[in-house]
Amino acid sequence: MHDAGKIIPGLAFFLVLATAPIWYNVASGHGAVVPEIEKPEGQTQCVADAAFMRREHMQLLLEWRDEVVRDRARVYVTADGRRYDKSLTRTCLGCHQSKANSCDRCHNYLDVQPYCWECHVDPRGGL
Ligand code: HEC
Ligand code: HEC
Ligand code: HEC
Repeated sequence: MHDAGKIIPGLAFFLVLATAPIWYNVASGHGAVVPEIEKPEGQTQCVADAAFMRREHMQLLLEWRDEVVRDRARVYVTADGRRYDKSLTRTCLGCHQSKANSCDRCHNYLDVQPYCWECHVDPRGGL
């Protein structure tokens, strides 16, 4: 008999260890193997600082969705007082002009496939 109670936590621990370099590199922005993420032309700042965005953009987008859909609260104010429409397409992709060369590069590298694009459109059709 195999002892699943030990094997499964053991496997989970191994996976965390095996992928730790990837997470470390992505989170720190260092490392030769990380895909190059194109920055929006002519812009210097995101809607929050870059390290926060790398870690938390998924969460932020879900908050935006809930606030827009449930409360019709459409305006996001950044820590330094800039105002943005809470929109995945108009705001995020309005500034990050190439989804393919920014968002997708990281998502493909990490094999993450957000289902959001089944409904939301890339305004430039991915080009
Ligand atoms: C089944 C279709 C569908 C899917 C899948 C979907 N959405 Fe939406 N989303 C909508 C609709 C419809 C609205 C309402 C649009 C409005 O009221 O302006 C919306 C609104 C939003 C908004 C606020 C309005 C805007 O212009 O962006 C955000 C942010 C958002 N969704 C994010 C997401 C994210 C993130 C995902 C994936 C995790 C996702 N959505 C997946 C249909 C979808
Ligand atoms: C006003 C333009 C602008 C908007 C709007 C914007 N970004 Fe950014 N974003 C930037 C810039 C500029 C950087 C690079 C900042 C830096 O390196 O300090 C960046 C960085 C990022 C990063 C980190 C990329 C990396 O190099 O690792 C992520 C992830 C990100 N943005 C996602 C988003 C998402 C998701 C949205 C919408 C919720 C969004 N951005 C809206 C301009 C914008
Ligand atoms: C530095 C790497 C990186 C960059 C750059 C990046 N993402 Fe992500 N993104 C991730 C990771 C990792 C996840 C998966 C998180 C998870 O599964 O919990 C993710 C998940 C998402 C999700 C899924 C949310 C959900 O609940 O399914 C959305 C939407 C998203 N990213 C949008 C964007 C957009 C838009 C951009 C470009 C403006 C972008 N991301 C750039 C790493 C990145």
